[in-house]
Amino acid sequence: MTADRIYNFSAGPSMLPVSVLEKAASEMLNYRGSGMSVMEMSHRSKVYQAIFDETKADLKSILKVPDTHEVLFMHGGATAQFAAVAMNLIGKTGKADYAVTGNFANLAKKEAAKYGDVAEACSSADKNHTYIPAQSDIKVRPDASYFYYCSNNTIYGTEWSYVPETAGIPIVCDMSSDILSKPVDVSKYGVIFAGVQKNMAPAGMAAVIIDKSLAGNELAITPTIMNYKTTIEKDSMYNTPPCYTIYMLGLVLKWVQSMGGLEAMETIKREKAALLYDYLDNSTLFKACCNDSASRSDMNVTFNTGNEELDAQFASEAGKAGMSNLKGHRNVGGMRASIYNAMPVEGVKKLVEFMKDFEMRNK
Ligand SMILES: Cc1ncc(COP(=O)(O)O)c(C=O)c1O
Repeated sequence: MTADRIYNFSAGPSMLPVSVLEKAASEMLNYRGSGMSVMEMSHRSKVYQAIFDETKADLKSILKVPDTHEVLFMHGGATAQFAAVAMNLIGKTGKADYAVTGNFANLAKKEAAKYGDVAEACSSADKNHTYIPAQSDIKVRPDASYFYYCSNNTIYGTEWSYVPETAGIPIVCDMSSDILSKPVDVSKYGVIFAGVQKNMAPAGMAAVIIDKSLAGNELAITPTIMNYKTTIEKDSMYNTPPCYTIYMLGLVLKWVQSMGGLEAMETIKREKAALLYDYLDNSTLFKACCNDSASRSDMNVTFNTGNEELDAQFASEAGKAGMSNLKGHRNVGGMRASIYNAMPVEGVKKLVEFMKDFEMRNK
């Protein structure tokens, strides 16, 4: 880290690796002899096409995307996918089932309900989304077009530790806040999508990985820009794609590869999360919001002191000490430390040390 950078615990947009930012800065005015920045070049130019192709190939290789699936880069972030998923997939039977384990899964379900018969497959709302339901709690209708879940609940700090069994019903997963943090068996999924602004790139896009056999069932009202079949056919360039975001994703993917790929990312994220949870489980001041260890998120660690004033004081003092954006989401209160891939281990160590010191001072 350079001396004047702070540890930014924001839930997204969030930290990017320093080496990625430095590379982007070094290529800003003249990208590899082109005489222009990537922001300024035509998306139809040879030089940009090479960036696009390499980024897509690297994402496929890192996530081991099988040939049955295609990688798409789409506008509108993850929220646009809430609608796109439903409009493209629900037409098969008119039905879809949603696991409601947090705010974004609930928003996705509400959006889908505009386009068909949507049911709740399971919910954790009874305990303010502090846990992930067990497989035995999940009810998927045999004629559902798809089953939907959100693998990491950014606001509540819970994460699925298993891929649900659905007896052959295609699985759609919002992986916005844990994609690239661990290996994933892509072949188990019909659609994976992620808003890129946490573990992948600056905001402005969703990465979508789709089983190609699911495309082509879209409702007639589906806007062309949201049509998976068209996006596959046009290789994500039906219109001008988010060119610079794709370039930045390419740099982040090179960084992931240089770190040792997804196995290494998983080891590092486990180490970072354990530092925080181990401390929280032994603290007499702070407590984790999620007490079920199998449901805890390694990406967003939510905690509080049980005293709103003290929570506010903590977030404010931490900010002054160079650790920003620790205030929790309004739905949960307290604090949230988002520790995505680009958060260095040193940042988490510094936070834990600061928490210990705060605890000593506020006993
Ligand atoms: C899990 C999850 N899904 C969806 C979204 C919405 O993403 P976007 O702002 O890209 O639409 C977020 C945003 O934080 C998120 O964390």
